[in-house]
Order: sequence, then C-alpha cells, then structure tokens
Amino acid sequence: MKSLSSVCVRSPANIALIKYMGKKDPGISGPNAPENPSVSLTLHGLCSGVELLFESQSAFEVRWSPEEVPAFEIERPWVDPSWSPDRIEKTRARVRSAVEAILQDIDHPQLGKWTVRSRNTFPAGAGIASSASFFSALTLAVGGAVLGTETIEHDLEVWAKRSSRISGSSGRSFFGPWVVWTPSAQKGSERIEKMEAAMPRLCDLVAVVESGHKEVSSSEAHRRVKTSPCWAQRTQRVEARTDAMFTALRSGDLGSVRALAWEEFEDMHRLFDTSQPPFSYQTQKSHQILEWARQKTSSIVTMDAGANVHILVPEEEGPLVERDMRLAFPEVTLIRDSQGTGPAFLERGSYVAGI
Ligand code: DP6
Repeated sequence: MKSLSSVCVRSPANIALIKYMGKKDPGISGPNAPENPSVSLTLHGLCSGVELLFESQSAFEVRWSPEEVPAFEIERPWVDPSWSPDRIEKTRARVRSAVEAILQDIDHPQLGKWTVRSRNTFPAGAGIASSASFFSALTLAVGGAVLGTETIEHDLEVWAKRSSRISGSSGRSFFGPWVVWTPSAQKGSERIEKMEAAMPRLCDLVAVVESGHKEVSSSEAHRRVKTSPCWAQRTQRVEARTDAMFTALRSGDLGSVRALAWEEFEDMHRLFDTSQPPFSYQTQKSHQILEWARQKTSSIVTMDAGANVHILVPEEEGPLVERDMRLAFPEVTLIRDSQGTGPAFLERGSYVAGI
C-alpha cells in the first residue's frame, strides 16, 4: 500500500567567526572534512523552510523546482529575482544527490518519491550561508520522514555530521547559539557541538551589498585557497586563533572576540586574493562599510564568502547601530536578525518566523 508522509522543518543560517575554509582529501577523510576548526553563531530568522512529501512505495525520484513553496508559510519570504536554467539544474542535481547520500548514510535503500519544497527568508547564493540553512533542513526532513522525528531529535549530533557531509557549514546550524566544529584525524570522529559562552545576546546586522548569485561558489573557494602561498600556515594560524576565541567567548570579552573575528575574515579573504587564479568577493561598498564599522562601532564584524558584511552587536544596541548604518548607507539593504538555538520540526500550516 502506498503511504504518503510529510515533514516540515525550519532551519537557520549560521555565521562563522572562525571559518571553515579548505577541505581535507575526500578520498581519505570523506566529503567536506574541514582542515581546521570553526566557530559560529546560529541565527534565527534568516532561515530556510523545507517541506518534504514522501511516497514510500514509488520508484526512486526526487523533485524540486524553485517555483514550489512550502505548504506552511514563511513570513517575509525572499523572492529570488531570477533562477537561470543552469542554476535550477545544478540545484536540482544537488538536492537529488543530497537525498541519495542521506539515504545511503542511514543504510536505507533508495526508495520512494520525494517532493522537496523550499523557501528562504533571505537571498540564496549571496554569502549568507543559504546552503547551511537549506541542507540542514533537508537532512532533518529526510531523516524525519524515514525514521520519525523523535528518533532524529535524540541523535542530533549524528545528524549534524550527516548534514555536514552534504554541505559542511550546515552541520553547525543544528545547535545554538555558539557552536564549534572540531575536525579529527579519524574519519567520523569529528565533533559538532554547542559551546558555552559568557556572551550577551547578539543580533546580526547584515549589510546586503550583493544579493545576486556569486560567481565563485564556496565549494570552489575551498578548492582554490589551497593554491595560495598563504595556505601553508593556515591551519596553525586558525588553531591558535580558535583557542584564543574560546577564551574570549567563555569570558565574554567582546573586544577580543572583535579583534579575532576581524583577523580571521581578513585571513580568509587574503587566501582568496592570493589564490591561483585570484578572486575576490569584496566590493567597494563592502570596504566602505568595513571602514565605517571599524571607526564608528565596537561591534564584531565578519564577512563570509560573499560581499555582505555582518555586524554583530549586543541586542540592546542593535536598533541604534541599525539606525546609524541606515543613515550612513541609505542605499544598502539591511537585515537585522537575532541569535537562535537551531532547527525545529513544524506542524503543517504553521509559521516560519521571518526577520
Ligand atoms: C565561507 O559549507 O558552503 O561560509 O561544504 O562546499 O557546501 P560546502 O561549503 P560551505 O562553506 C562555507 C564557508 C564559509 C565559512 C564558514 O561558514 O565557516
């Protein structure tokens, strides 16, 4: 008999202060094994909603198209202006192979017809880790559909690791607010876990400098950074910075967190600038915003593999810094989000809070 199940998940993006950039040889370490530890803050309203419909007795098939939206609603969904046919095809193939990989990972034969519907509350492909929120939501939805949502909730770190094999940074979206991903020399023994911090509640002001799809994907960036002459000591630099970041986060030392986060994103972007061939995500506007943030605020600043600038400030200072930023850069779209605690399974028809 055919059975039809449906699972809805909302999962947030995360923003790393210590970056996952550069992967170990997948032949030896498996997919997306990071060369160095990373530390991130999980967000809340910047999220993906995924609805999965699963027909168990059908031939294996995975359907996804950008026009489809979840049955539950996302408050203030971001409508991407255009999906090129090439981008649709690439995403469809990635969704299909993600579903296949998760089923293989849980030793489940390829089965059933999967219909994936998704929507983000922010522009995909613009360096706000849409792959983190989307693939964490998808992994949980597939697991929930096959094994039941309670089983998954009891084994969250295992699922975080599964998700990270689909897209590295997505594993960090499973917990929050502060999360550390620690590599291991032994395949499968890496850790993805929540870390204790004495930090005030933060909000993330994202200056959306570019909302189009980026030209160099983060997967390509992971490959290319290894051609940089600065790559040689990267792991040692990041390990030392991570230790210092732990100390700063655990003692709530905002000044040191700011200094270390700044050093770290500059280190990563220097790798991009010096790769073969070199590439850059930073635009003139990114530089202007960085300079403004350096001079006018005491906030924590970072950039991912994109032109957008993330400015993290204690929640009570958020409205004031946002107002000043809007005055300084009236032409730039600003998104304010709060820190969050991770994904959630949803009832059909319920809300995914937007920003
Ligand atoms: C710059 O997780 O997008 O955001 O594993 O190839 O899917 P894949 O890469 P992805 O890389 C994110 C890199 C980053 C830094 C970070 O989030 O740590």
